[in-house]
Amino acid sequence: MKLDIIHLLDDKDFISGELISKKLNISRTAVWKKIQNLKKLGYNIESVKNRGYRLISKPDIPLSEEVLFELNTNIVGKNVHYFRSLESTNLFAKELIKKNAEEGTIVVADIQTKGRGRKDRSWFSPEGGLWFSVILYPNIPTQYAMLITMATSISIVQAIKELTGLSAVIKWPNDLLLEGKKICGILTELDAELDRINYSVVGVGINVNNVLEDELCNKANSIFNIYNSKISRVDLLRLIIKYLDVNYAKLISNDYNYIRELWFENTDIIGRNVRLKLEKYEIEGIVIDIDDTGALILENIDKKIKIVSGDLEFI
Ligand code: BTN
Repeated sequence: MKLDIIHLLDDKDFISGELISKKLNISRTAVWKKIQNLKKLGYNIESVKNRGYRLISKPDIPLSEEVLFELNTNIVGKNVHYFRSLESTNLFAKELIKKNAEEGTIVVADIQTKGRGRKDRSWFSPEGGLWFSVILYPNIPTQYAMLITMATSISIVQAIKELTGLSAVIKWPNDLLLEGKKICGILTELDAELDRINYSVVGVGINVNNVLEDELCNKANSIFNIYNSKISRVDLLRLIIKYLDVNYAKLISNDYNYIRELWFENTDIIGRNVRLKLEKYEIEGIVIDIDDTGALILENIDKKIKIVSGDLEFI
């Protein structure tokens, strides 16, 4: 990550325009323009004649310069494309793939106007939430694709834990719950052939500080509602990238057990009575396992049934 004006501004000391221009190797006018741009984004910067600039406060905006600062990951978080508003970060990520986007590229938006959930449902994406997608080119057999979602889920659990101390619980196949209500959904899209995955776009939606619509409140929650304080989306995204970089490295080195074991440590699904809504019918039973490809193994009377996708409800 290149040194940016954001990294030079300090909340204690003034830095002169001259020093900034020297350190960044840009003109004084360019420094002034950068300061004006930051102010427009909500950065509160004090300018005092003969002393320079001082940062008083900054907004919680996942700009690349904020998210990637000193992160030094290997794959995930190579680039961050931030937008104030997008139709859907997954859609934009797929456009970037057509232009050969680098693996680990992140697309993040403050607001999505056509956020999408699984099964083409719409995904409410107002200001205050964390809506982002990760571009991956995993060299793993297609049958293990579900582990991409599993690696992402555990990374988010680890990040939330480190930031807030809260333990989110994974609900198969792609939700995270806090106090029994959904705070995060993952939409993993795949372009694959039988024997290889061309690309995967992992879309993550987390209700962080956003206010939920009334009709969502009986099923969904936000981290803010439980933590009782706003948390930094920048810090949360940085931590998710940090953990996903480690977990994804395990996945592509075929250490599927590492992912499965961490996943099991963070779910309470085994032994639970569930109802699964499949495309054409519903099925009930007890969850007895998640197999090595991430499929759910259900015991229904005396049969064992393997289910690869569906909407799960605890009963
Ligand atoms: C679900 O639970 O149905 C999955 C929801 C996934 C929502 C995220 S928000 C960022 C990314 N862009 C989208 O349009 N959807 C995913």
